[in-house]
Amino acid sequence: MTDRIDDIANRMVVEGKGILAADESSATIKKRFDGISLESTEDNRRDYREMLFRADGMKDYVSGVILFDETLRQKAADGTPLVQLITDAGAVPGIKVDAGAKPLAGHPGETVTEGLDGLRERLAEYHDLGARFAKWRAVISIGDGRPSWTCIKANSHALARYAALCQQAGIVPIVEPEVMMDGADAVHDIDTCFDISVWAQNTLFDELFEAGVNLEGTILKPNMVVPAQNCKKAASVEEVAEKTVRCLKATVPAAVPGIAFLSGGQASIDATAHLSAMNAMFDLPWKLTYSYGRALQADALDAWGGKQANVAAGQAAFNHRVQMNAAAATGKWSAELEKQAA
Ligand code: 13P
Repeated sequence: MTDRIDDIANRMVVEGKGILAADESSATIKKRFDGISLESTEDNRRDYREMLFRADGMKDYVSGVILFDETLRQKAADGTPLVQLITDAGAVPGIKVDAGAKPLAGHPGETVTEGLDGLRERLAEYHDLGARFAKWRAVISIGDGRPSWTCIKANSHALARYAALCQQAGIVPIVEPEVMMDGADAVHDIDTCFDISVWAQNTLFDELFEAGVNLEGTILKPNMVVPAQNCKKAASVEEVAEKTVRCLKATVPAAVPGIAFLSGGQASIDATAHLSAMNAMFDLPWKLTYSYGRALQADALDAWGGKQANVAAGQAAFNHRVQMNAAAATGKWSAELEKQAA
């Protein structure tokens, strides 16, 4: 295995595997643990992630894991570094490096993702700790007058500066311009999501070009093109697949080795069905796979419920979900397979 960024990027999107996003910030994991009435302590966070990283599904279906800073430095209960559990499973460890989406001055309701200050030094340390890819998430919300050009431009520019710094440090950047499907006033339809996603992704690739980013060592993590959670008009699986692929074809150069979707609040099964439909319906220049957080973890978190006695049940739920998504990554998932394997 080489350390060239294009080789690492290809490993991250290898056929039949995908990425586990386990990089919830302290605030986000607390929200998830609140859902199972579990206190968010350092040990509980460690136990939960250790359960996932030791699951059998890791070896067969996970190419990489995105971690939060704390987890990259944590040890399993027996003293094994969590990073080692990931590399032992044959997956690439990655790290979330952005400092979060902060209010964009002069643009109420919009954010710009921060974290460029000191990033060069942090990336060097993360590389020493074993991370070989990174993630930076920009948040683009649709609503009254949103998104603004300022929001799209500022976030794309930051993503490009981040990506260039990553590559200089020998780290593959995942660039994530997330057009949100949820939010209190998000009622937009699928065609609005399409238009905004095309705009955001085109702007991002312009900025990546201007920053001299090597696309062969870059992974795109986009939203799928879907209606907002509160939109009254639903979209079929085929429509989501068709519009998402049309958006990607209009924006993503073929030099990019792979596209790993976020789940963004879709039901777990929808995220699987959409991915499978895209891979089954189209012949594409890039690999299309998953980089799901919630859609890979929700069932496992519920089955575990914070109890040591439920570790095997939590792992079984994770194994099932990730196996189904691995099938989707080659277009081979079906509702029947879902039932048979359950
Ligand atoms: P979700 O799949 O839960 O949207 O999370 C993926 C992610 O990493 C968001 O940044």
